[in-house]
Amino acid sequence: MDAVREWLRQANSVAVLTGAGVSAESGVPTFRGNNGLWKQRRAEDLATPGAFARNPELVWEWYDWRRSVLAEANPNPGHYALAELEKRVSNFTLITQNIDGLHELAGSRNVLRLHGSMWRVRCLACEQERFVRRIPFPTIPPKCECGGTLRPGVVWFGEALPQDVWQAAENAARSAELFLVIGTSAVVYPAAGLAQIAKSSGARVVEINIAETNLSDQIDQFLQGPSGELLPQLIA
Ligand code: OAD
Repeated sequence: MDAVREWLRQANSVAVLTGAGVSAESGVPTFRGNNGLWKQRRAEDLATPGAFARNPELVWEWYDWRRSVLAEANPNPGHYALAELEKRVSNFTLITQNIDGLHELAGSRNVLRLHGSMWRVRCLACEQERFVRRIPFPTIPPKCECGGTLRPGVVWFGEALPQDVWQAAENAARSAELFLVIGTSAVVYPAAGLAQIAKSSGARVVEINIAETNLSDQIDQFLQGPSGELLPQLIA
Protein backbone atom coordinates (compact mmCIF):
# COMPACT_ATOMS: atom_id res chain seq x y z
CA MET A 1 0.00 0.00 0.00
CA ASP A 2 2.83 2.44 0.85
CA ALA A 3 4.56 1.85 -2.49
CA VAL A 4 1.32 2.42 -4.40
CA ARG A 5 0.63 5.58 -2.40
CA GLU A 6 4.03 6.89 -3.41
CA TRP A 7 3.42 6.04 -7.10
CA LEU A 8 0.12 7.86 -6.85
CA ARG A 9 1.82 10.91 -5.35
CA GLN A 10 4.38 10.99 -8.16
CA ALA A 11 2.04 10.35 -11.10
CA ASN A 12 0.87 13.25 -13.27
CA SER A 13 -1.46 11.05 -15.24
CA VAL A 14 -3.60 8.33 -13.74
CA ALA A 15 -6.17 6.15 -15.47
CA VAL A 16 -8.55 3.80 -13.69
CA LEU A 17 -10.58 0.89 -15.04
CA THR A 18 -13.46 -0.27 -12.84
CA GLY A 19 -15.76 -3.26 -13.00
CA ALA A 20 -18.75 -4.59 -11.12
CA GLY A 21 -16.70 -5.28 -7.96
CA VAL A 22 -16.42 -1.57 -7.22
CA SER A 23 -20.21 -1.46 -6.79
CA ALA A 24 -20.51 -4.74 -4.87
CA GLU A 25 -20.38 -2.94 -1.53
CA SER A 26 -23.30 -0.79 -2.72
CA GLY A 27 -25.41 -3.93 -3.01
CA VAL A 28 -25.22 -4.20 -6.80
CA PRO A 29 -24.74 -7.80 -7.92
CA THR A 30 -21.58 -8.68 -9.87
CA PHE A 31 -21.66 -10.94 -12.94
CA ARG A 32 -19.29 -13.75 -12.08
CA GLY A 33 -18.51 -15.46 -8.78
CA ASN A 34 -20.82 -17.41 -6.50
CA ASN A 35 -23.81 -15.07 -6.46
CA GLY A 36 -23.05 -13.51 -9.82
CA LEU A 37 -25.79 -12.64 -12.30
CA TRP A 38 -24.35 -15.07 -14.87
CA LYS A 39 -24.61 -17.94 -12.37
CA GLN A 40 -28.40 -17.85 -12.47
CA ARG A 41 -28.95 -16.60 -16.02
CA ARG A 42 -27.38 -16.94 -19.42
CA ALA A 43 -25.92 -13.85 -21.08
CA GLU A 44 -27.08 -15.26 -24.42
CA ASP A 45 -30.73 -15.02 -23.25
CA LEU A 46 -30.53 -11.49 -21.87
CA ALA A 47 -27.62 -9.45 -23.10
CA THR A 48 -27.27 -9.94 -26.84
CA PRO A 49 -29.01 -8.30 -29.83
CA GLY A 50 -30.37 -11.76 -30.73
CA ALA A 51 -31.95 -12.17 -27.27
CA PHE A 52 -33.69 -8.80 -27.64
CA ALA A 53 -34.95 -9.66 -31.12
CA ARG A 54 -36.32 -12.99 -29.85
CA ASN A 55 -37.87 -11.81 -26.61
CA PRO A 56 -37.79 -8.06 -25.89
CA GLU A 57 -40.25 -8.49 -22.97
CA LEU A 58 -37.93 -10.88 -21.15
CA VAL A 59 -34.90 -8.67 -21.72
CA TRP A 60 -36.75 -5.57 -20.54
CA GLU A 61 -38.10 -7.37 -17.43
CA TRP A 62 -34.51 -8.20 -16.50
CA TYR A 63 -33.28 -4.64 -17.10
CA ASP A 64 -36.25 -3.21 -15.19
CA TRP A 65 -35.38 -5.47 -12.27
CA ARG A 66 -31.75 -4.31 -12.39
CA ARG A 67 -32.89 -0.69 -12.62
CA SER A 68 -35.05 -1.19 -9.53
CA VAL A 69 -32.04 -2.60 -7.62
CA LEU A 70 -29.95 0.36 -8.73
CA ALA A 71 -32.60 2.87 -7.75
CA GLU A 72 -32.03 1.80 -4.12
CA ALA A 73 -28.22 1.75 -4.36
CA ASN A 74 -25.88 4.47 -3.17
CA PRO A 75 -22.20 5.04 -3.93
CA ASN A 76 -19.82 3.45 -1.43
CA PRO A 77 -16.52 4.81 -0.04
CA GLY A 78 -14.65 3.35 -3.05
CA HIS A 79 -16.69 5.46 -5.50
CA TYR A 80 -16.18 8.56 -3.34
CA ALA A 81 -12.42 7.95 -3.10
CA LEU A 82 -12.17 7.84 -6.91
CA ALA A 83 -14.17 11.08 -7.20
CA GLU A 84 -11.75 12.67 -4.73
CA LEU A 85 -8.73 11.35 -6.63
CA GLU A 86 -10.00 13.03 -9.79
CA LYS A 87 -9.75 16.40 -8.01
CA ARG A 88 -6.15 15.80 -6.96
CA VAL A 89 -4.54 14.40 -10.11
CA SER A 90 -4.01 16.79 -13.03
CA ASN A 91 -4.59 14.18 -15.70
CA PHE A 92 -7.19 11.70 -14.51
CA THR A 93 -9.45 9.38 -16.50
CA LEU A 94 -12.01 7.05 -15.05
CA ILE A 95 -12.99 4.24 -17.40
CA THR A 96 -15.82 2.00 -16.28
CA GLN A 97 -17.49 -1.14 -17.53
CA ASN A 98 -20.34 -0.46 -15.12
CA ILE A 99 -23.69 0.82 -16.30
CA ASP A 100 -24.99 1.69 -12.83
CA GLY A 101 -24.16 5.43 -12.75
CA LEU A 102 -22.74 5.22 -9.21
CA HIS A 103 -19.41 6.87 -10.13
CA GLU A 104 -21.32 9.90 -11.40
CA LEU A 105 -23.53 9.94 -8.28
CA ALA A 106 -20.37 9.98 -6.14
CA GLY A 107 -19.17 13.08 -7.99
CA SER A 108 -16.85 11.70 -10.67
CA ARG A 109 -17.02 14.03 -13.66
CA ASN A 110 -15.04 12.53 -16.51
CA VAL A 111 -16.40 9.03 -16.77
CA LEU A 112 -15.84 6.97 -19.91
CA ARG A 113 -18.68 4.45 -19.94
CA LEU A 114 -17.48 1.59 -22.12
CA HIS A 115 -20.72 -0.40 -21.79
CA GLY A 116 -23.26 2.43 -21.83
CA SER A 117 -25.76 3.26 -19.09
CA MET A 118 -28.66 1.52 -17.43
CA TRP A 119 -30.41 4.89 -17.29
CA ARG A 120 -30.37 5.47 -21.03
CA VAL A 121 -32.62 4.06 -23.75
CA ARG A 122 -32.22 4.04 -27.52
CA CYS A 123 -34.92 3.85 -30.17
CA LEU A 124 -34.48 1.08 -32.70
CA ALA A 125 -36.34 3.15 -35.31
CA CYS A 126 -35.16 6.77 -34.99
CA GLU A 127 -31.95 5.84 -33.08
CA GLN A 128 -32.41 8.72 -30.64
CA GLU A 129 -30.87 8.04 -27.25
CA ARG A 130 -32.07 9.62 -24.05
CA PHE A 131 -31.97 9.49 -20.27
CA VAL A 132 -34.97 7.81 -18.57
CA ARG A 133 -35.11 7.38 -14.82
CA ARG A 134 -38.61 5.87 -14.79
CA ILE A 135 -39.10 2.36 -13.33
CA PRO A 136 -40.94 0.26 -14.25
CA PHE A 137 -42.00 1.27 -17.73
CA PRO A 138 -45.80 1.38 -18.14
CA THR A 139 -45.53 -1.09 -21.02
CA ILE A 140 -42.69 -3.32 -22.06
CA PRO A 141 -41.01 -3.13 -24.39
CA PRO A 142 -41.31 0.66 -23.92
CA LYS A 143 -42.04 2.78 -26.97
CA CYS A 144 -40.41 5.91 -28.33
CA GLU A 145 -42.48 8.99 -29.21
CA CYS A 146 -41.87 8.08 -32.85
CA GLY A 147 -43.57 4.72 -32.27
CA GLY A 148 -40.38 2.68 -32.45
CA THR A 149 -39.29 0.15 -29.82
CA LEU A 150 -36.85 1.33 -27.16
CA ARG A 151 -33.90 -0.82 -26.12
CA PRO A 152 -31.56 -0.38 -23.14
CA GLY A 153 -28.74 2.07 -23.91
CA VAL A 154 -26.08 -0.48 -23.10
CA VAL A 155 -23.53 -2.49 -25.05
CA TRP A 156 -24.45 -6.14 -25.41
CA PHE A 157 -22.25 -9.11 -26.17
CA GLY A 158 -21.44 -9.17 -29.86
CA GLU A 159 -21.78 -5.39 -30.20
CA ALA A 160 -19.01 -2.88 -30.75
CA LEU A 161 -18.13 -0.38 -28.05
CA PRO A 162 -18.91 3.28 -28.83
CA GLN A 163 -15.88 4.16 -30.96
CA ASP A 164 -15.19 7.62 -29.49
CA VAL A 165 -15.40 6.32 -25.92
CA TRP A 166 -13.08 3.41 -26.68
CA GLN A 167 -10.59 5.71 -28.42
CA ALA A 168 -10.51 8.02 -25.41
CA ALA A 169 -10.03 5.03 -23.08
CA GLU A 170 -7.21 3.65 -25.17
CA ASN A 171 -5.49 7.05 -25.27
CA ALA A 172 -5.79 7.35 -21.49
CA ALA A 173 -4.29 3.86 -21.02
CA ARG A 174 -1.40 4.69 -23.36
CA SER A 175 -0.55 7.97 -21.66
CA ALA A 176 -1.08 6.93 -18.02
CA GLU A 177 1.89 6.78 -15.66
CA LEU A 178 -0.22 4.81 -13.22
CA PHE A 179 -3.11 2.52 -14.20
CA LEU A 180 -5.45 1.11 -11.57
CA VAL A 181 -7.64 -1.91 -12.34
CA ILE A 182 -10.37 -2.22 -9.75
CA GLY A 183 -13.06 -4.84 -9.15
CA THR A 184 -13.06 -6.50 -12.53
CA SER A 185 -12.54 -10.14 -13.41
CA ALA A 186 -10.73 -8.83 -16.53
CA VAL A 187 -12.20 -11.45 -18.83
CA VAL A 188 -14.37 -9.29 -21.09
CA TYR A 189 -12.51 -7.73 -24.00
CA PRO A 190 -11.69 -5.19 -25.25
CA ALA A 191 -12.03 -3.54 -21.80
CA ALA A 192 -9.74 -6.07 -20.12
CA GLY A 193 -7.03 -5.32 -22.71
CA LEU A 194 -6.62 -1.76 -21.42
CA ALA A 195 -4.40 -2.92 -18.56
CA GLN A 196 -2.06 -4.63 -21.03
CA ILE A 197 -2.05 -1.54 -23.25
CA ALA A 198 -1.12 0.60 -20.24
CA LYS A 199 1.59 -1.82 -19.14
CA SER A 200 3.18 -2.08 -22.56
CA SER A 201 3.11 1.73 -22.84
CA GLY A 202 5.18 2.04 -19.67
CA ALA A 203 2.59 2.57 -16.94
CA ARG A 204 2.79 1.01 -13.54
CA VAL A 205 -0.29 -1.18 -13.20
CA VAL A 206 -1.93 -1.82 -9.84
CA GLU A 207 -4.88 -4.14 -9.32
CA ILE A 208 -7.38 -3.94 -6.45
CA ASN A 209 -9.63 -6.96 -6.08
CA ILE A 210 -10.86 -9.31 -3.38
CA ALA A 211 -9.46 -12.23 -5.41
CA GLU A 212 -6.69 -12.78 -7.96
CA THR A 213 -7.55 -12.58 -11.66
CA ASN A 214 -5.77 -13.46 -14.91
CA LEU A 215 -4.07 -10.09 -14.71
CA SER A 216 -2.67 -10.44 -11.22
CA ASP A 217 0.68 -11.95 -12.18
CA GLN A 218 1.29 -9.57 -15.10
CA ILE A 219 1.15 -6.34 -13.14
CA ASP A 220 3.29 -4.34 -10.72
CA GLN A 221 1.23 -4.64 -7.55
CA PHE A 222 -1.82 -6.57 -6.48
CA LEU A 223 -3.74 -5.20 -3.49
CA GLN A 224 -6.15 -7.77 -2.13
CA GLY A 225 -9.30 -6.55 -0.43
CA PRO A 226 -12.59 -4.75 -0.97
CA SER A 227 -12.23 -1.55 -2.97
CA GLY A 228 -14.60 0.25 -0.59
CA GLU A 229 -11.96 -0.18 2.12
CA LEU A 230 -8.70 -0.06 0.16
CA LEU A 231 -9.41 3.00 -2.01
CA PRO A 232 -10.06 5.36 0.93
CA GLN A 233 -6.87 4.06 2.56
CA LEU A 234 -4.94 4.62 -0.65
CA ILE A 235 -5.88 8.28 -0.94
CA ALA A 236 -5.69 9.01 2.81
P1 OAD B 1 -17.36 -9.57 -12.86
O1 OAD B 1 -18.58 -9.96 -12.12
O2 OAD B 1 -16.89 -10.44 -13.96
O3 OAD B 1 -16.14 -9.41 -11.86
C1 OAD B 1 -16.26 -8.71 -10.65
C2 OAD B 1 -14.89 -8.70 -10.00
O4 OAD B 1 -14.97 -7.90 -8.84
C3 OAD B 1 -14.37 -10.07 -9.58
O5 OAD B 1 -13.02 -10.20 -10.00
C4 OAD B 1 -14.47 -10.03 -8.05
O6 OAD B 1 -13.44 -10.76 -7.42
C5 OAD B 1 -14.31 -8.54 -7.78
N1 OAD B 1 -14.93 -8.03 -6.55
C6 OAD B 1 -16.10 -8.41 -5.97
N2 OAD B 1 -16.36 -7.66 -4.89
C7 OAD B 1 -15.34 -6.77 -4.78
C8 OAD B 1 -15.04 -5.72 -3.87
N3 OAD B 1 -15.84 -5.42 -2.85
N4 OAD B 1 -13.89 -5.02 -4.06
C9 OAD B 1 -13.05 -5.32 -5.10
N5 OAD B 1 -13.29 -6.30 -5.97
C10 OAD B 1 -14.42 -7.01 -5.84
O7 OAD B 1 -17.62 -8.07 -13.38
P2 OAD B 1 -16.86 -7.28 -14.53
O8 OAD B 1 -15.43 -7.63 -14.59
O9 OAD B 1 -17.22 -5.85 -14.36
O10 OAD B 1 -20.64 -6.76 -19.61
O11 OAD B 1 -17.58 -7.84 -15.82
C11 OAD B 1 -17.23 -7.31 -17.06
C12 OAD B 1 -18.43 -7.30 -17.97
O12 OAD B 1 -19.01 -8.62 -18.03
C13 OAD B 1 -19.57 -6.43 -17.51
O13 OAD B 1 -19.41 -5.07 -17.87
C14 OAD B 1 -20.74 -7.04 -18.21
C15 OAD B 1 -20.45 -8.48 -17.89
O14 OAD B 1 -21.05 -9.44 -18.61
C16 OAD B 1 -21.74 -6.66 -20.36
O15 OAD B 1 -22.87 -6.83 -19.93
C17 OAD B 1 -21.45 -6.39 -21.80
